Amino acid sequence: MSRLAILALLAACGDNTPQAEAPPDCSGLAPPATGLTLDAAREAHRRSALRQRLRYREAVEPGYVLRMTAQRADQARIDRKLACTLDLYETGRLLFEHAYTFEEGLAAGPSASPFHRVQTDRRGGPETTTCTSCHFRNGPAGAGGVADNALILGDGDRVSSADARNPPSLIGAGVVQAIGDEMTAELAALRDAAIARGTNVDVELVTKGVSYGVLHVAANGHLDTKDVRGIDPDLVVRPFGWKGTAATINEFIAEAAALHFGIQSEDVVIRAAASNDPVMLGDGPPEDRDGDGIPDELTAGQSTELAVYIASLETQIMKPHEQPVDRAQPSGPTEPYLVDEWAHGRAVFDQIGCASCHVPSLRLHSPAVTIRSPVTGGTVSVDLTREAEAPRIAQDETGDYPVFVFSDFKRHDLGDANASKHPQHGIAPRFYLTRRLWGVGDSAPYFYDGQAVTIDHAIERHGGEAAFARDSWTALSRDDQSALRIFLTSLRRAPRLGVP
Ligand code: HEC
Ligand code: HEC
Repeated sequence: MSRLAILALLAACGDNTPQAEAPPDCSGLAPPATGLTLDAAREAHRRSALRQRLRYREAVEPGYVLRMTAQRADQARIDRKLACTLDLYETGRLLFEHAYTFEEGLAAGPSASPFHRVQTDRRGGPETTTCTSCHFRNGPAGAGGVADNALILGDGDRVSSADARNPPSLIGAGVVQAIGDEMTAELAALRDAAIARGTNVDVELVTKGVSYGVLHVAANGHLDTKDVRGIDPDLVVRPFGWKGTAATINEFIAEAAALHFGIQSEDVVIRAAASNDPVMLGDGPPEDRDGDGIPDELTAGQSTELAVYIASLETQIMKPHEQPVDRAQPSGPTEPYLVDEWAHGRAVFDQIGCASCHVPSLRLHSPAVTIRSPVTGGTVSVDLTREAEAPRIAQDETGDYPVFVFSDFKRHDLGDANASKHPQHGIAPRFYLTRRLWGVGDSAPYFYDGQAVTIDHAIERHGGEAAFARDSWTALSRDDQSALRIFLTSLRRAPRLGVP
């Protein structure tokens, strides 16, 4: 069905007549077929053909994709609900795969060396031209290798001046934002209820079973956060970035476009102006703050399209470990000799304390994620059970949506050996967010710097608050270690067909 969306998209290509303003009929649209089905094979061929057609269009009219997507995603139209979410997804995917050019605002324009491998403090490299050059391993919007690391907060020259960051896989990002948003709302409700009581009170900050410590609220409303743990004093859960630096997909898109491409989005300008951040804002004229002579480099609507695409990426589905191993489940092994090993490995994961941080499942109450444009405040809601790619989250008998995320969405001290050179977004050097483990079976290399080649290396690098689990792992028998390895290797993306 999404074929209709693409056909509509191409039919509109080059068509400059104003669209009718009636709300669109989105009912015929569906996310692309995935997996190893015949439909998925057709989908892979279709996408390959579309890509080539767009390349030809670009060859005829350079800048075509960016113009077309800007036209289709006017944020004012999106705000008036005149766009189908699945159309936004399709165009967002094109933007994710698009290679930006100098004419479109890439870098500071053509020069002898437009790219810099090492980023210069918060001004970025830029290093490359497309999101897929870093997010590609193990499927669309996947992880990156060590050669794709971003070298952030450096001096623009020496690798040793920077902090290396490995590109993580983006799967499940919509579900992640939705969980973070629910947690943030629950923490805010706890805080506000305590303030409303008007007495001295200590609030246990627990949401979805995760404890963020204790907030001391004084009768006069003063907040003391000295016993709050793993979260910023504003109690906003920020599940994106190795250090937990962003609460929303939009924030990351704005940062990625600026740092990796030198493309200044409307979103970044609004955010930088609001937070009085001259580095990200730039000192050019209002329509071209970064002063490269190209106005409107990534419009609010295009950022929304990118965010809808990323929010709709597939997730990993797993049965709760309380249930007996189900041979039909997509992630567990089906080979008879591995099934028991897998179940044992799953139990070891709990026994040695991995699950205390890598919490196997968090429960989502409402299966939708809201993408909010910082420019207009307008929103798009993505229904994660219907509009996202398969596999999708599903309701269980409690009415909630269990998400097998293997994270507590909390920052932990990983010890001196993992200390970064620079604080990032104000986060202290030794602190990192518990990384989600979905897809970990095929997202090597691991850890924030991509220097852990195997899962064993990743476990051995756990220090600080996680040192106890590392030591328990080291003390395991070879059989127990191999069972745990089998379990972690099973956490994979669903297999898929692709035509490059
Ligand atoms: C030069 C490589 C590179 C390119 C190009 C790149 N990214 Fe990333 N991406 C990264 C790295 C490295 C991180 C982790 C950054 C951190 O932890 O601070 C990341 C993280 C992210 C995240 C957060 C994921 C998470 O779960 O923490 C999102 C979303 C994202 N990128 C989107 C994009 C988009 C959209 C583009 C294109 C506009 C893009 N990236 C281009 C390297 C890249
Ligand atoms: C105190 C909390 C804590 C405990 C306990 C813990 N981890 Fe982690 N784990 C983390 C954090 C934080 C990260 C992210 C590190 C980083 O940013 O590179 C991580 C990262 C990982 C990664 C790398 C993921 C990736 O995509 O690079 C793996 C694999 C992993 N942990 C497995 C385990 C296993 C197995 C155990 C039990 C032996 C365990 N962890 C125990 C906090 C913990």
